[in-house]
Amino acid sequence: MDFEKTILCIGAGYVGGPTMAMIAAKCPHYKLVVVDVDKEKIRAWNSDNLPIYEPGLDELVRETRNKNLFFSPEIEKGIRESEIIFVSVNTPTKTFGQGAGKAADLQYWEKTAREILASSTTSKIVVEKSTLPVRTASAMERILNENSKNIHFEVVSNPEFLAEGTAIRDLEFPDRVLVGSRETPEGIKARKEIVEIYANWVPREKIVESSVWSSELSKLVANAFLAQRISSINSISALCEKTEADIDEVAYAIGMDSRIGPKFLKASVGFGGSCFKKDILNLVYICESYGLEKVARYWESVVEINEWQESRFIQNMLRNMFNTVAGKRIALFGFAFKANTGDTRESPAIYIAHGLLEEHAKVVITDPKALENAKKNLSTFEDRVSFEQDPYRAAEGAHAIAVLTEWDLYKGLDYERILKTMVQPAFIFDGRNILDHQKLFNMGYNVIAIGKAPLKHF
Ligand SMILES: NC(=O)c1ccc[n+]([C@@H]2O[C@H](COP(=O)([O-])OP(=O)(O)OC[C@H]3O[C@@H](n4cnc5c(N)ncnc54)[C@H](O)[C@@H]3O)[C@@H](O)[C@H]2O)c1
Repeated sequence: MDFEKTILCIGAGYVGGPTMAMIAAKCPHYKLVVVDVDKEKIRAWNSDNLPIYEPGLDELVRETRNKNLFFSPEIEKGIRESEIIFVSVNTPTKTFGQGAGKAADLQYWEKTAREILASSTTSKIVVEKSTLPVRTASAMERILNENSKNIHFEVVSNPEFLAEGTAIRDLEFPDRVLVGSRETPEGIKARKEIVEIYANWVPREKIVESSVWSSELSKLVANAFLAQRISSINSISALCEKTEADIDEVAYAIGMDSRIGPKFLKASVGFGGSCFKKDILNLVYICESYGLEKVARYWESVVEINEWQESRFIQNMLRNMFNTVAGKRIALFGFAFKANTGDTRESPAIYIAHGLLEEHAKVVITDPKALENAKKNLSTFEDRVSFEQDPYRAAEGAHAIAVLTEWDLYKGLDYERILKTMVQPAFIFDGRNILDHQKLFNMGYNVIAIGKAPLKHF
């Protein structure tokens, strides 16, 4: 079959794979090729066991793979044969040199740009799908366009707003799609080509066009605002614990104000995921480099509150369990950074597990999708951590359960049965406020939840 366009995506991760699968499903007239340096990952994308878990993803890939969606290790060939290249490689926080701990590490991005240049024989549109510091596009254009091949690259910014766990729904029904380009005739022409792709299924009024700089910055700012809401409600959860106000009641009451709204007001053990912390720190670094110290400190405090919330959770566990957890078995219910994903990057569970292990607790981890990643995260503690797929087995002989991921599964467990197998007095620390605390207390548990008065039998 002849395809209208051939689109390449470099980077077959949490963003590249699902995004291209959605475009493939909605645009049977385009050919989509996804490449990655990680050959094992490409092999997994071509198997029945995809490298990431995301509700609805298996079906979408099954529907399109080897029809108009192809996963391939051949990066050079992919570059040569495409007109449009989405770049969706990782952009982690820099761990060395200037800006270490804050700035984005752009080595993967720049390497990709150079690979695109080396393998291209025709002009192309390069689409920034990765989250990048504002003004990256101009650096990329400079690298790409200083060539003697007589070919031209137009760099367009099209940040991804999907959230893991709901990626397929977010891609199918996005709140908005943002496409930024230079305001030159060539820039606008390239932008329109990208808009045309999304217009196959996204209502036109939801596709926002802007300058490339606004587009790049909007992605960082969107994540900063979302994380700020979580840190705001988490900071108030601490005040609720002191005053006997209830954080869920407070969140409900303030969320009814249409200027605030109800979303993202759920207090918890803290936010995780690969993006929020790195993107805020990147924003902080950008502000610092423009001399905007006050702005930098303001946004940095969002990350600081998150770290404080995680450490408060451990302190609460210790204090309530008679100031020692040494030798005590503690079951962590959930390790993924949120429900419906197997991703554990920056998961608060990593921090909580480390804190408990430092206190010499025996930690047992259970999670329906994230055990493989959890094993990698905790590989240095092999002798004192165990992993159980079955939450009932994880809780056997435990002094405490800590709910760290809001999996629906944990709401429906037989907690009477669990209680009989635990050491008494048994504790539940609900880091996601998903359980029926009064009911558990009536059964005999001591229940400590975020932003609520503790329910204790002593
Ligand atoms: N994960 C999310 O929820 C999310 C949401 C929106 C935006 N983003 C942004 O999207 C980008 C990608 O995130 P992700 O979570 O998909 O990352 P990821 O680590 O899951 O995937 C990135 C992939 O790029 C590959 N890669 C790196 N360098 C390469 C190269 N030179 N050539 C070919 N492949 C290369 C890696 O092997 C990896 O498989 C990041 O900038 C992130 O900030 C992520």
